Amino acid sequence: MRILIADDYADLSSRAARIMAGQLYLKPNSVLGLATGSTPLQMYQELVRLHKEVGLDFSEATSFNLDEYLGLAPDDANSYHYYMHQHFFSHINLPQKNIHIPCGRPADIEKECLDYDRLIWQSGGIDIQVLGIGTNAHIGFNEPDIKFEATTHKVKLDEETIEANARFFAAIEEVPRFAISMGMKTIMHAKKVLLLASGENKADAIYNTLYGGITPEVPASILQLHQDVIVLLDAAAASKIRRCLDDNNQNLRS
Ligand code: F6R
Repeated sequence: MRILIADDYADLSSRAARIMAGQLYLKPNSVLGLATGSTPLQMYQELVRLHKEVGLDFSEATSFNLDEYLGLAPDDANSYHYYMHQHFFSHINLPQKNIHIPCGRPADIEKECLDYDRLIWQSGGIDIQVLGIGTNAHIGFNEPDIKFEATTHKVKLDEETIEANARFFAAIEEVPRFAISMGMKTIMHAKKVLLLASGENKADAIYNTLYGGITPEVPASILQLHQDVIVLLDAAAASKIRRCLDDNNQNLRS
């Protein structure tokens, strides 16, 4: 696990975009696992800039998003479909047929979950998975639980997640209570994981993820078992682990 500490959100975003761009230069037909939320927003803006100004090419790439709210249509301004098209897909040359986001209004949710996992598997698996992290350490919408969910599944969102995401909606009552999310097996099978966290309110989740026990109650802690994870933090999100990193360096020197 590599832990990189950026100066601030802008620095984090441009470093994340460079990692994604590097992946595409090395493997133009990469399978990209993508996240929504506030954290990757500026990374997407930077990738759009690289596409427009230096020709970063997505024409051979494929994408799979982590999750979607259940009940929201793709054209709902709060859906993750809408977010991805507004902030990213409509500005780059990733072919529409290669874009995958779980359906928020599936006719048959079990079939939707199975089909989504099958598509990921048929694509050869995810080359690089971008993750944000919830204040409760969720990744995707894998909420703290007594067990890890392996495959794509329906989730009942935590109160903490509903409160955190209410900022995007007119009222907290409008936040969907359920979502569909990639499971931990798919995330853990990604060849590389890029975990992003920005802001003081993520400092505890990051500390528990990296230095606590591996438990479904801290979903992101499972990443301790992944062989290729880059944890890219801004200084505020890293504030609680700084002491551990300093202690480690001290031990290495002595
Ligand atoms: C979004 C997702 C979530 C977010 C997390 C952090 O697709 O899977 O796990 O990454 O809730 O959200 P922000 O970045 O808004 O703090």
